Amino acid sequence: VLEEKDAAEAARCPHAASRAHSLDAIPGPTNWPLVGSLVQLLRKGGLTRQHEALVDYHKKFGKIFRLKLGSFESVHIGAPCLLEALYRKEGNYPQRLEIKPWTAYRDMRDEAYGLLILEGKDWQRVRSAFQQKLMKPTEVVKLDRKINEVLVDFVGRIGQINVSGKIEDLYFELNKWSFETICLVLYDKRFGLLQEKVNEEAMNFITAVKTMMSTFGMMMVTPVELHKSFNTKTWQDHTAAWDRIFSTAKVYIDKKLKRNAVRAPDDLIGDILHHSCLSKKELYAAITELQIGGVETTANSMLWAIFNLSRNPGAQRKLLEEIREVVAPDQDPCGEHIKSMPYLKACLKESMRLSPSVPFTSRTLDKDTVLGDYAIPKGTVLMINSHALGSNEEYFDNGKKFKPERWLRENNTINPFAHVPFGIGKRMCIGRRLAELQLQLAMCWLVRDYEIVATDNEPLDMRLHIQLLWTVTEDNTSVAMA
Ligand code: HEM
Repeated sequence: VLEEKDAAEAARCPHAASRAHSLDAIPGPTNWPLVGSLVQLLRKGGLTRQHEALVDYHKKFGKIFRLKLGSFESVHIGAPCLLEALYRKEGNYPQRLEIKPWTAYRDMRDEAYGLLILEGKDWQRVRSAFQQKLMKPTEVVKLDRKINEVLVDFVGRIGQINVSGKIEDLYFELNKWSFETICLVLYDKRFGLLQEKVNEEAMNFITAVKTMMSTFGMMMVTPVELHKSFNTKTWQDHTAAWDRIFSTAKVYIDKKLKRNAVRAPDDLIGDILHHSCLSKKELYAAITELQIGGVETTANSMLWAIFNLSRNPGAQRKLLEEIREVVAPDQDPCGEHIKSMPYLKACLKESMRLSPSVPFTSRTLDKDTVLGDYAIPKGTVLMINSHALGSNEEYFDNGKKFKPERWLRENNTINPFAHVPFGIGKRMCIGRRLAELQLQLAMCWLVRDYEIVATDNEPLDMRLHIQLLWTVTEDNTSVAMA
């Protein structure tokens, strides 16, 4: 029977009943022996189209369903009231799914874990060392100078490689832009990725990150212990890539620490390093994971923002008007300007609703928890489906349309738990403020200098590409910059 607090929640959540049913009662697709719903999912278009399958399953089974893929079982939630319930019952150390290939590498090399893989009290200790500064808008806004330094080069580079309005590989350029920005923020170092000729060190670093990303997925679905004991090529490539990432990152973190020792730190990361009581090893791991968490997620969100603006010229015009009203022609857009730009913020929110670069995140329950109608046992893996939430007409009228206006204060009746592109609660993305500022400034620079034009209006073929502990959305379309 629900506790008193749960009953109050049940009243708010129209789908919560007065009695909690067991996990087995949660509906879900066919669960065949050994494979679960894997065959059905493959028939629906495979793992690259699982976001569509998840939306379908939510339509069929409702706010919550249970899915088994091979031996991996999870409970999917896609309703604001359930997310709110989860948020309110969250313990001190929320857990996500373990990334075993990463922990195996760190254990082998005796390196520390960063925020993406830490758990429990250690996670909280490292998180609080970064939280104060990285999640505080008044601190993050001070990074606008560094963000702009890279944006000047990025806009210049777009000018150079723009051949009759078309850019050959915009996504690669955006990845280089976000890599360069996060490295400047974290290490105070320019890698020169936006130059015509990229230097060898930068290329090796970016290649190592790519290799590490492309090799870890295989070891998430097959036992990493096997790869390790047979010393498979995947394991060798993965460890060699991490070796390079760590050795490069260490050089720059050490330089920053050395500088801090002789003069007071003058930037956000310098300040965090100076005040934290983390060991050097912990700092290496934490900073390296911040870098890895911040590259493709930001580049992908920017690609979607560009795409959505290209297909919605009315919104793009309105955004340009706002930019021109707030930023004088001889000024660079900066963090202060963004505060007076509600339409810009609304455009980014709407783009992330329609096309979140991270369509779901996970939680492993650390205690028995009642969610809506169900009592879910400790240890269950929950999937929080932000893509399914964002595309649900129940929470977003005319949800397929790009309508930034829906986010403006005078119209906004949206439940905050219906829009969670950065996750929820204590374990929400720690780079959120930085990513938002970076994306908002980039949108200002691009829309002010270019008109972004869709070269076709074909329906989208959106695919998921597994990259980290999450996935990133991709599409098959193109835009031009005039
Ligand atoms: C975690 C999304 C940019 C670093 C996460 C999570 C999501 C996410 C969904 C999981 C949160 C949860 O489980 O509740 C995004 C998106 C980004 C972005 C969409 C860009 C648009 C960044 C940046 C950084 C970063 C720029 C680095 C500065 C991290 C880290 C975590 C995380 C370290 C793990 C936090 C923890 O477990 O304590 N991100 N992220 N992310 N993100 Fe981001």
